[in-house]
Amino acid sequence: MAQLWKGRFKKELAKETNDFNSSIKFDSRMFEEDIRGSMAHAAMLGAQGIIDEGESKKIIDGLAAILDDIKSGTLPIDESAEDIHTFIEGELTARLGDTGKRLHTARSRNDQVALDIRLTLRKEAIEIKDKIKELIGVLCEKAEENTNTIMPGYTHLQRAQPITFAHHIMAYAAMLCRDLGRLEDAARRMNVCPLGSGALAGTTYPLDREMTARELGFDSITLNSLDGVSDRDFCIELAAALSIIMVHLSRFAEEIIMWCSWEFKFVELDDAFSTGSSIMPQKKNPDIAELVRGKSGRVFGDLTALLTIMKGIALAYNKDMQEDKEAVFDAVDTVKMCLTAFTPMIKTMSVLKDNMRRAAAGGFINATDCADYLVGKGLPFRDAYKATGELVALCIDMGLTLETLPIEEYKRICPAFDEEVYDAISLEKCVADRRVAGGPSKQSVYAQIAAAKKCAGIE
Ligand code: ARG
Repeated sequence: MAQLWKGRFKKELAKETNDFNSSIKFDSRMFEEDIRGSMAHAAMLGAQGIIDEGESKKIIDGLAAILDDIKSGTLPIDESAEDIHTFIEGELTARLGDTGKRLHTARSRNDQVALDIRLTLRKEAIEIKDKIKELIGVLCEKAEENTNTIMPGYTHLQRAQPITFAHHIMAYAAMLCRDLGRLEDAARRMNVCPLGSGALAGTTYPLDREMTARELGFDSITLNSLDGVSDRDFCIELAAALSIIMVHLSRFAEEIIMWCSWEFKFVELDDAFSTGSSIMPQKKNPDIAELVRGKSGRVFGDLTALLTIMKGIALAYNKDMQEDKEAVFDAVDTVKMCLTAFTPMIKTMSVLKDNMRRAAAGGFINATDCADYLVGKGLPFRDAYKATGELVALCIDMGLTLETLPIEEYKRICPAFDEEVYDAISLEKCVADRRVAGGPSKQSVYAQIAAAKKCAGIE
């Protein structure tokens, strides 16, 4: 397909140049945004009398027909074109002749591509937000079923204090709520229309930039034309928000992988969301979780690529910036794919409550509560801490737990103990008493569920 810029060249473009220069393989996904942007531009050119109203109408109709034909498959995208903008303008001109050639008045591919990426990412951000909301919904459901499911909470991967499975997974819901906020924030700053920036220096035509922006659903127009064409902050911000989402999914994935192991056996993945081994018949592997953990590296790579592409280029547009699309689209597609597989994996996994309860018992995770019991008897916390530490050491020596250690031994270490201590250190009570906002008690977790649902717009 012919280039848009033939006039000053005497020779044909070398095939190698076109192959290297062309972006159509990765920008053709923006065909609809490109067409809608062109329609808005044409409408504004007509309204401002920059082109004839009748021709503006013809251009808009011609573009609508091209959109239909691409969508229905009757118009295949020519992969030899330089980019999607060239392809669509070329097709319009082939259909409308000279009228088609008027579309690019007062516009450059530089402001055009800046527009198309914004429109595309704006749509993608909404899709990703919906997928995150779905995952938050699944986490809330799982939490509601597990407010009494006691498990050990960990620090340093050492059993630390008793919590519930509901409390544990609501931590991920809290992360995902922040992710929604970050996506909204990025989408808001993205929603500014660069059309009218031209190649870099705006244009002499009397454009109505506000009209085009309004037509395309933007909140406002870019402030400066050099920045308008060469700003890719919105790609970087989105990729950063997506990277943080991947950090969260990857941490969650890591826990799922551990919990599936025979060493933990806290959860069992549904057969439909696990895989086997070609040689070891007994294996059931958490491949989805591992891939999600692995793919986080890809998305961080995309963010690093974008930062690196942008950091050294002088104003305004430079061809380096064509590299933005593969990186940011890869980040978008990867996050969408991860969420699509991850959410039903979580939804269908079985929670092995008895194993969690067993892991919580006997590991001294109620030692803090034992010390707090002594504080209740009037001891300063530091003394209570020391006495409980001695009790734990004694239990380890005797092969007992705080639950099975006889009261005489308790009293020997600290006379303030009496029989009530067994009730005070029961895991159910340890959890139920943590009524503090954000804590593991049933009421606290229900409040967290309600807040997460509100943030995800559920119910
Ligand atoms: N394919 C180009 C890109 O993605 C479109 C802009 C081309 N502009 C130019 N001055 N060559 O960046």
